[in-house]
Amino acid sequence: MTNQPFMTLEQMDAAADFVRAHSRHRPRIALILGSGLGGLADSVQNADVISYHDIPHWPQSTVEGHAGRLVVGELENHTVLVMQGRIHFYEGYSMSQVTFPIRVMQRLGIQILVVTNAAGAINPAYAPGDLMLITDNLNLIGMMGFNPLIGPNLDELGLRFPDMSQAYDRALMELARQAARERGILLHEGVYVGLSGPSFESPADLRFLRAAGSDAVGMSTVPEVIVARHGGMRVLGISGISNKANLDGNTTTSHEEVLEAGRVMVPKIEGILRGMLQHLP
Ligand code: HPA
Repeated sequence: MTNQPFMTLEQMDAAADFVRAHSRHRPRIALILGSGLGGLADSVQNADVISYHDIPHWPQSTVEGHAGRLVVGELENHTVLVMQGRIHFYEGYSMSQVTFPIRVMQRLGIQILVVTNAAGAINPAYAPGDLMLITDNLNLIGMMGFNPLIGPNLDELGLRFPDMSQAYDRALMELARQAARERGILLHEGVYVGLSGPSFESPADLRFLRAAGSDAVGMSTVPEVIVARHGGMRVLGISGISNKANLDGNTTTSHEEVLEAGRVMVPKIEGILRGMLQHLP
């Protein structure tokens, strides 16, 4: 029953009304901060902070490294809504619950979504601490039957069969490249594959994922991006490479390693975001 419950329009609107009532700001850009990347929220000015606990119907994040609050405020002359900590499918929530925050964003009028995550490098050219611009994703979790759009289609929110040919917005990618160049930040480009987790991948899993064309692997993001695209948002995705995936079986991967790498990556992601926002009309 992991596909259910399906969240309703009334629940989305109750949550959106709550956020509107608790912030002076009317953001058009949203930012989701992945594992170990929550420190980015500290840069938001004139912030209104809303705990996930207080928002009606909002799922609670239970993972270390995810603060569990919305920070709404200003960054580089834009009004932004920052999710400091996300909800993962492996916590036991349904896909509809995992992506509920995206629906609330949609009801709030968010037009641009920037997703970040911590990911393991499958591409041997990537090192821990590097960043990867997500140019496309491999929806392995969806192929296994856990697409977040399974269930009744709410026609007010989007089409039954949305296109995913350009899930990641080309113009936003260009702004991110430009910002990285200007600041001398190395930005790889590649395909992110989304799995459920929570166990890390076996060497055989990783060889399979590599053969299937993926460059980085993680446990989030893809369901959020599908729902954001369904809802008509433009999306940009950046993976922070926290560890080398263990294709040969000779090294281990831990959550502590993922959080530690996050500290190195926060300033670089912040640089790219600031640069992008400066160039965004
Ligand atoms: N695998 C899956 N998810 C991850 C990893 C990984 O190696 N690192 C950070 N998130």
